[in-house]
Amino acid sequence: MHENLTKVLFTEEEISKRVKELGAQIKKDYEGKDLILITVLRGAFIFMADLVRAIDTDEVEMDFMAVSSYGAQAKTSGIVRILKDLDTNIEGRNVLIVEDILDSGVTLKYLSKNIKSRNPKSLEVVTLLLKEGKQETDMRCKYIGFECEDAFVVGYGLDYAEKYRNLPYIGVLDPKAYS
Ligand code: IMP
Ligand code: MG
Repeated sequence: MHENLTKVLFTEEEISKRVKELGAQIKKDYEGKDLILITVLRGAFIFMADLVRAIDTDEVEMDFMAVSSYGAQAKTSGIVRILKDLDTNIEGRNVLIVEDILDSGVTLKYLSKNIKSRNPKSLEVVTLLLKEGKQETDMRCKYIGFECEDAFVVGYGLDYAEKYRNLPYIGVLDPKAYS
């Protein structure tokens, strides 16, 4: 385990197993339909890369958006900026937003509203992690990888000030590492 973590929450093996389950479920639910995964950079990029390989069908496309809500802070600012927009026209498409973690829900609420305004045929959300009891909005996710405790977590794409994204597991960052 990395020395700046207090514990590992989800191991590489646990994540891999869960991502495969999510992929199989998504494949089943979208059988015979087109599907476009919209990944929210940068946190969800590793999750997306594994998830899309677990959705065993030709009918899946992907596109990317980048938003920023935190700066280098470990708490929600409530300000969401689009740093990179989609290249694809998603009107009339079945869209699945791929998120890394749902904390307050502010980022996702903003994103969903933005994407809905482009008139997709359907819109659902898959999030790898959901922080228990933290959601301030009525945002709902159809697919959830894991629920996790209310701590600042890093690894498997999740960062603190752009670091730790490359850890193959997810763990709790020691508050000493950011105070
Ligand atoms: P929300 O708007 O409060 O739901 O925050 C969502 C975004 O903040 C996520 O997509 C992450 O990029 C980031 N975030 C929230 N909690 C954590 C965390 O524990 N570790 C790393 N990033 C986080
Ligand atoms: Mg982030």
